[in-house]
Amino acid sequence: MTELDSRLHKRTTSRQFTRAADAFAASPVKSDMDYRRRYVHFAAANASDAVLDVATGPGFSALAFAEVARIVVGFDITPAMLERAARQRDKARLANIELVLADVEAIPFADSSFQVVSCNSSLHHFQRPGWVFQEMARVCAPGGRVVIDDQRSSEDASRAAGQDRIERRRDPSHAHSLSRSEMLSMVREAGLEVQRVEERESTRDFDEWMKAIGADPATYRAVRQAMLESSDDDSAGLAPRLEEGGRLVYERRVVWLVAAKPLG
Ligand SMILES: C[S@@+](CC[C@H](N)C(=O)[O-])C[C@H]1O[C@@H](n2cnc3c(N)ncnc32)[C@H](O)[C@@H]1O
Repeated sequence: MTELDSRLHKRTTSRQFTRAADAFAASPVKSDMDYRRRYVHFAAANASDAVLDVATGPGFSALAFAEVARIVVGFDITPAMLERAARQRDKARLANIELVLADVEAIPFADSSFQVVSCNSSLHHFQRPGWVFQEMARVCAPGGRVVIDDQRSSEDASRAAGQDRIERRRDPSHAHSLSRSEMLSMVREAGLEVQRVEERESTRDFDEWMKAIGADPATYRAVRQAMLESSDDDSAGLAPRLEEGGRLVYERRVVWLVAAKPLG
């Protein structure tokens, strides 16, 4: 990947999430604050923590962290997403959230600045996730933790590639959904010690998934077709199936992970 490819990908990402900002912020799945609070509990955040919410989007996790942590900094590459996050922060009257426009490949904070460095549902947008883990580990304080929530792909390379094709057709800013083992090896390569890993699987409604990115009719049709075509041999590992009445659903598999940065 060249420097130019990387810049184009980031521009595509920012454009995509500017277009989808309202739809994304309105998604019942994304705005499920019970889910976010369970995740904050999993991260074991507490009142003395400074938390960094990487690629904060409309700030749902930042809000949930701010209910328990000392300070939360959320950053994102898409100004439209940060505007939604600022609105939510102001509406919730949370004074301990700071929002910053920044790129995850160059996190604008000093080494060891945060006790918790968290990233939800965004790793799959990054072209250099291994480098992103290094950056997250760098800004995490020794004794602190890096916490991840992201969809995972199959360990089967062909199915993982099938999933990426469908995801990219839905959202051109998709890069690659990591498998669980890819995720764990990147965490370790960043010098972090894996403490807890949990897998969560939920049946997701296809139409809601498409709505969350404000898909146009042509994109909707193409992705639905690709999903259905993958169902015979589950070639994308998403286990899509039609329910009565023509409702299309698939399995969303997510990894939650806590990794500690060793002391000294
Ligand atoms: C699927 S959204 C997830 C948002 C939020 N973390 C959540 O859980 O709702 C992905 C977010 O990643 C952001 N993003 C993608 N690439 C980025 C980068 N290189 N640096 C910072 N943010 C990035 C996008 O702008 C978008 O807001």
